[in-house]
Amino acid sequence: MAKKKIAVLPGDGVGNDVMDAAFIVLDKLNPDVEYVWGDIGWEFWRTEGDPLPERTVELLKGTDACLFGAITSKPKEEADRELVSELQNKGLIYRSPIVRLRQIFDLYINYRPCVAYKNNPLIYREGLDLHVFRENTEGLYSGVEFYPLEDDLRASMKKYSKNMNKFDNVDGGDIAVSCRVFSRNSCRRIVKAAFEFAKEKGYKSVTVVEKPNVVRETSGLMVREARKVAENYPGIDLWETNVDAMCMWLLKNPHDYSVLVTSNMFGDIVSDLCAQLVGGLGFAASGSRGDGYALFEPTHGSAPKYAGMHKVNPIAMLLSTKLMLEYIGEAEMADRLEKAIAKAIEDGKIRTYDMGGGNTSLEVAQAVADLL
Ligand code: IPM
Ligand code: MG
Repeated sequence: MAKKKIAVLPGDGVGNDVMDAAFIVLDKLNPDVEYVWGDIGWEFWRTEGDPLPERTVELLKGTDACLFGAITSKPKEEADRELVSELQNKGLIYRSPIVRLRQIFDLYINYRPCVAYKNNPLIYREGLDLHVFRENTEGLYSGVEFYPLEDDLRASMKKYSKNMNKFDNVDGGDIAVSCRVFSRNSCRRIVKAAFEFAKEKGYKSVTVVEKPNVVRETSGLMVREARKVAENYPGIDLWETNVDAMCMWLLKNPHDYSVLVTSNMFGDIVSDLCAQLVGGLGFAASGSRGDGYALFEPTHGSAPKYAGMHKVNPIAMLLSTKLMLEYIGEAEMADRLEKAIAKAIEDGKIRTYDMGGGNTSLEVAQAVADLL
């Protein structure tokens, strides 16, 4: 197998802590990989006005995949205030670098496995095995947003939708619009990814989670495409649910479900719910894949208050590392890593604070490495 090149972007906050943990297991597994380290995160926003410097995008283009830690995102006003003085009032706009990376590299599949490992005191029910496929480039994350609403745009909207008339008495300065843009191809390819996964792993159903009874056009497109894709997979049922009811059923009957597929924002929300069912964000791994590149990251954020303390649960990061190994063709190593993680959880000797223990991220990673 040709040597793979992996971009390592720890980011900031606990991103660095969990990356340290990942390297304890990577050093032990020793895959035939060259690592290159890149800059990303809050520090680069503050000092360069861009949390995702162009040099980092270029660096990623020369690699096969990326291993990512976590980064801090803050709302607009706060982001502006924290810029160094030379960069203030220059009209710089903070946009989440992770969302940008997903779009720049067209990483349209966001895969989030949520598995209840044995003897994890935080799981909601034994035996849960959920796999969320979240569309990762469009929808409410398209970045097509307007504030204030300019008159010409309002006039166009009114021309095409009578429903806009109800805002006639509201000043444009008091209206914000975020567009939920879906394309047919993106709906089709995310549903196809979910079905392919179900077929490969032997799952008997795929549930498309949307809200076509209200959000008719976008959710409608997703569900119609799902029905077409499903025809190519005899033996795998397509179940259709509304996102609100789905949240309820995930709490009530979580064992009924296995593979879920949904759009970007709904997937963001539903995957947090699924993560909590299996122990919380400390267990939530993710892989963002496109046709030519992939990025692996824990779903949790950068938790700045814990930065540098090596306190947080590294398992989400270790499971993301497992997904990366699988992607670069190291299936056997990936499998060994997942089994070691599961065994470490089951043994219950080494646990971070969220699991009621007092061990550090590094001790957990070391326990996993020892089991490899
Ligand atoms: C996630 C996160 C991100 C998202 C944030 C950090 C931009 O919540 O990966 O789920 O909204 O996609
Ligand atoms: Mg999220």
